[in-house]
Amino acid sequence: MTTRRILDLLRTGQPEESVTIQGWVRTKREQKEFCFVEVNDGSSMAGLQTILSQDLPDYEAIVKKLNTGASVEMAGVLAASPAKGQRIELQVASVTVYGEADPETYPLQKKRHSFEFLRDIAHLRARTNTLGAVFRVRNACATAVHQFFQERGFLWVHTPIISANDCEGAGELFTVTTMNLKDVPKTKEQEIDYSQDFFGRRAFLTVSGQLEAEIMAMAFTNVYTFGPTFRAENSNTSRHLAEFWMIEPEMAFCDLIGNMDLAEAFLKHIFKSVLEACPEDMQFFNDRIDNTVMVTAENIINNEFERITYTEAIALLEKADRKFEYPVSWGLDLQSEHERYLAEEKFKKPLIVTDYPTAIKAFYMRLNEDGKTVRAMDILAPKIGEIVGGSQREERLDVLERRIEELGMPKEELWWYLDLRRFGTVPHAGFGLGFERVVQFMTGMTNIRDVIPFPRTPLSADF
Ligand code: 4AD
Ligand code: MG
Repeated sequence: MTTRRILDLLRTGQPEESVTIQGWVRTKREQKEFCFVEVNDGSSMAGLQTILSQDLPDYEAIVKKLNTGASVEMAGVLAASPAKGQRIELQVASVTVYGEADPETYPLQKKRHSFEFLRDIAHLRARTNTLGAVFRVRNACATAVHQFFQERGFLWVHTPIISANDCEGAGELFTVTTMNLKDVPKTKEQEIDYSQDFFGRRAFLTVSGQLEAEIMAMAFTNVYTFGPTFRAENSNTSRHLAEFWMIEPEMAFCDLIGNMDLAEAFLKHIFKSVLEACPEDMQFFNDRIDNTVMVTAENIINNEFERITYTEAIALLEKADRKFEYPVSWGLDLQSEHERYLAEEKFKKPLIVTDYPTAIKAFYMRLNEDGKTVRAMDILAPKIGEIVGGSQREERLDVLERRIEELGMPKEELWWYLDLRRFGTVPHAGFGLGFERVVQFMTGMTNIRDVIPFPRTPLSADF
């Protein structure tokens, strides 16, 4: 007999003569003649209520084993339930206990655990209500990402994880090496001799697939990447991971307006799809984690994002009737508190800030006529701050070369990137959406470490 998903049984809610389920015991309530056991298989927040009656062979011995965390297979009759809050329950005819979980030592007992505590047992935390809901929503988000781009004819391209370029130029790179760290080869000048390393040159974990995505966009017009990216930034915040997933679309024959339109439609699509795919989980976040989750989602789906320039943003921040910790003045980067003030208090919805000063943005962004700003765009979301970063790219060879020289970047190493401007260059644009930030935004989870199964942060790479 095939095993049934608990979600499917609960959604249908119809009695059936014979059903088999598999899963883990969440709770056990022993009565005089019965025992109620809730079994969860991860397919939904709610588990299936099962009833074992004394007539079951080996009743006492079996019930003793059915503690929270035990893994089971149960078969029986799916009957209409007299109890409130559920339409069906399983009247159990046979039970197999695959593995017991000792109640004295199994860490996930019925009481509420703090998210900090759960992070230390990341190998078990996916079995809790909240993390279960998070990872189902994360899956629905990922599905929505592919659906959005595939429907629009974007090609999913796989960019390398090991890369020799520092796309963002922020120097937050993890070096990949097989050199013997006890005896590192040196050059005559006493520098590390990477020519003797595995790749014959210095290599890193990628910070972004953008530059390679640009290559592919120059052949396929519209492409996107969706993969892990790595940043060795030593910032222990609730919004930063050392390993996070990023979605980076890149569009040929596209300017900043087209880029913003796509990003806005993309975020709206993700929210809409997840509300449809995971209604129970989203309701749970609204009830238990952050009671603005639903309003926020509706707000995203139904309202246009605000669009202002960086220069306008600075003027608004200078006029704000509040003191910021970090200074505000034209030329300085926006800090998280500034971004949140604009999104949460000033506009109360996501806003797109464009045309940042050249000096605070990456080398590849298209220079504006004014000579001091670039065609950048960041989308700032309430509670999260920056969720998307993107730009129109510099497609003019001479302007790009000048910029690379100004920054003192190694021009020879970017020969292939410059070739894209030599052979069939076109205006093009793209952006990066931080996948964990969008899951955070959607669920209201306050710490980014709780929306990825196994977070990597400074001093932490367990599991
Ligand atoms: O703004 P960023 O650095 O942009 C880029 O990497 C561009 N190459 C993207 C592009 O145009 N194709 O990063 C993009 C997004 C940020 O807006 C943020 O949501 C997320 O990636 N992000 C992080 N998320 C979690 N932890 C970190 N340490 C992150 N750094 C960036
Ligand atoms: Mg950015």
